[in-house]
This record gives sequence, C-alpha cells and structure tokens, in this order.
Amino acid sequence: PAPKVIKLHQATENRGVRVKINGWVHRFRAQKGMVFMVLRDGSGFLQCLLTGDLANAYTTQTLTLESTISIYGVINPVLEGQTAPGGHELIADFYQVYGLAPAGEDAITNKVQENADPSLLLDQRHLTLRGETLSAVMKVRASLLRSFRKFYDENHVTEVTPPCMVQTQVEGGSTLFGFDYYGEKAYLTQSSQLYLETCVPALGDVYCIQESFRAERSHTRRHLSEYTHIEAELGFLDFDQFLSHIEDVICSSVDSVLADPIAGPLVKQLNPNFVAPARPFMRMAYADAIEWLKEHNIPNEEGKPFQFGDDIAEAAERKMTDMINKPILLTRFPLEIKSFYMKKCHDDPRVTESVDVLMPNVGEIVGGSMRIDNLDELIAGFEREGIKTDPYYWFLDLRKYGTFPHGGYGLGTERILAWLCDRFTVRECSLYPRFSGRCKP
Ligand code: 4AD
Ligand code: MG
Repeated sequence: PAPKVIKLHQATENRGVRVKINGWVHRFRAQKGMVFMVLRDGSGFLQCLLTGDLANAYTTQTLTLESTISIYGVINPVLEGQTAPGGHELIADFYQVYGLAPAGEDAITNKVQENADPSLLLDQRHLTLRGETLSAVMKVRASLLRSFRKFYDENHVTEVTPPCMVQTQVEGGSTLFGFDYYGEKAYLTQSSQLYLETCVPALGDVYCIQESFRAERSHTRRHLSEYTHIEAELGFLDFDQFLSHIEDVICSSVDSVLADPIAGPLVKQLNPNFVAPARPFMRMAYADAIEWLKEHNIPNEEGKPFQFGDDIAEAAERKMTDMINKPILLTRFPLEIKSFYMKKCHDDPRVTESVDVLMPNVGEIVGGSMRIDNLDELIAGFEREGIKTDPYYWFLDLRKYGTFPHGGYGLGTERILAWLCDRFTVRECSLYPRFSGRCKP
C-alpha cells in the first residue's frame, strides 16, 4: 500500500503506520551496520533507524547533514530504556535524497561551528536558524505574538497597521533613521504611538504589532536597530487601571505561551527555572528607586551617587532589577527625562504618569504613560523638547476635536522573549537581527 505522507508533528498519532516523511538530515551517527539519523521537518524531530542494505549503502558522500530526503517506514515506540524525540523512531525501509548537501570542506558543520566568533555565526544566520535553540526561540516568539493578539482580541482592542514611513518623531531625534521620500525628508518610525492615539476616537482601544526603527549607536545586550514593537493605546482610563492592564496583558500572554502544547515545553527547555510572574507586580516610584540605588551604593552614569532627576541608565537599572529579582512597575518619572507627551501627576507636577516594566536579566521591556490631553500643555511639551509642531498638526487636532483621557505603551518583543527564553541578548530573539554594523543576511 502507498505510505501515508505526514509531517513530524503528526508522528505520535501515526505510530504503527507506514509513512513517508520529507525533511532535512539534522544529525546522525553510524555504528556497526546501523545508522541512527534524526530527521527534522520544522514541525518536529524524529529518530530514524537504517539497518541492513540501507545502512550498508550509506557513506559519508551519499548522505550528509542538511540534505533533504524523503524517508519511508513504520513509526514504532522506542524500546524500554531508550530515548528519542517523542519516544518513538522510524524503522526505515527506503529513502530518497532530494537535495544532497555538500560533504568535506563545504559541509554545514564547517560553516556553523558551536564556538565560532558570534559575528561569523551571524553571517550564517540563514543556516544557524535551523539549530535547535534558535528555532525553538522563533517558535516561542510566534506563540507569544499569537498570545498577545488573543488577549487584545478578547478585550476588544482592535488591530491596526500604522505606516512605517513617517515625518514625525516620538522618542527623540538622535535615534531617527532618515531617508529621502520623493525629495522630502522622512523617517522610519520609532513608535506607532501617535498614530494609535488618532485611532482611538474612530475604533476604540487599538494595538499594533509593527517594526520600529532606532539608530542606536552603541552595542548593548538589548538594543536593535529594528525591532518588533507591540503597542497599544487605551481610552478613558486612569493611571491605576492603565497599570493593571499592563500586568494583565503580560501575565495572560505568558500564561498562554506556557499553556501552548508546542511553545510551553520549548520555554521549559530554554529556561528550566522560569516561573510565571504573579500579579500584582511590585510597584516602585522613580523617587524610591533613586533612594534604593543610593542605599545600595550603585552610582549613576557619572560614577556619582544618584540624585532625583538622573536618568537610570541600563547598567544601574539592570543591577537593581537583578537584585530585586522580580518584575517591577517603575512609575512616576520626572518630566525632564521623559518624552514630550507624558501627562503630569496631579499630586506632584515634577513627575509624570509614566511607567517602565523591568524584568530580571533584561531590565526595561515596556515603556508607557498616560498622555497629555490638553492642547496648550501639549504644545508646551513640544516647546520644551525643541520640536516644531507643524508636522504634528494631526496629532494636535486630537486635543481639539474631542480630547479624552488616554494612555498607551510599547513592549519590545525581543526583550520580553529574552526574559522568557533566558537569552543573553535580544539578538538571539530576532530572526535576522539588525544593529549598527549589521544589515545582512
Ligand atoms: O520606551 P520606548 O522608547 O517607548 C516608546 O516608544 C513609546 N512611544 C511606546 C508607546 O507608549 N506606545 O520603547 C518601548 C519599548 C521599550 O520598553 C523596549 O522594550 C523596546 O520598546 N525598545 C527596544 N527594543 C529593542 N531595541 C531597541 N533599540 C529598543 N528601543 C526600545
Ligand atoms: Mg523606554
């Protein structure tokens, strides 16, 4: 009878059946008349056993790592005491090579060596993606994006797709990528926030999952030039409700990933000690963080004790987060160190209704705030930052035609993934990372 053609995620339900599977030779080991091969098809891994003529015909030239093959045989549970992915193996009776990968000098193992220089490995990203770690992170990433969408969907937050080519800034001129737009100056978007704000009167609460671009000059563990930005904008809520929403979206999305039959086990594999965070998160005002940093003798950027008004840069923030070792909602940042659009606190006009979510090992994963909804105050914000308001006429109109209390946030997909999957840098969480000096492959 003709074999049943399956993908590897269907292996368990096809035990005992003669199947045909197409895939890549992921790993193998030949020993006295037997070849143990692990086949990969992107949906899973399967150990295949070649014996008899099949094993005898094998040479290092006829079957190589990363060759594509179609393999035929029956899937059996592995014998007691043996281990294989999924607890089963295919007893092969036939295989055909579709694309033979090179052996010798040009073999894949020579291109992607475990301990190679990271920048050489990045040149081979199209090949290293096939590895167990990177492919696992990308699967968790897909599940995470799906989980955010599910949360927004269930909470009546509508998805929109704002433009990436813009003529306005959101987070400071120094990190803008500019380009020539038919003779006019334009930029790659730093954040879709301003556009999301304009959608709320039309569509209610909105979100987008879109690339943001930042011309970051320094190389750090958590900065990319292009990253996937999950942003939402919510109308008619107060700062406390806003903070609860942020806890909810993070916790629900993480719970969905952990409950996902594919991504959940991958998180366990990548980050065995991961425990889903408990609500409510610790809340800490900026002023208290400054006191905390002083008490713990952690210096500011200039090496001096922290003072109210100092920016808490990456190194100090990371130290504090790692020592506290749980999620922190860091709130009420001073006006001067934050963006032009942030609303002042009623009880203390020196500080804003702003928040950063900090996670151990990564630091900031979310930045957000309530927005200034008074026209004059917003114009004053632009002036303070030295930004000309002309290109922002549409954004100012929002404060003219039916202004409303609202707030929003942006979450870096690669940063939350670095935390969830315990990766050293966000570069491991991006498909093809972009940072200064790298725009390939
Ligand atoms: O804190 P940021 O700059 O805030 C904004 O862009 C707001 N306009 C968002 C909003 O309110 N809609 O960026 C938000 C998040 C950061 O917390 C971080 O997780 C991520 O975006 N992020 C980066 N991720 C990777 N590489 C970079 N260069 C990043 N810059 C920001
Ligand atoms: Mg920020």
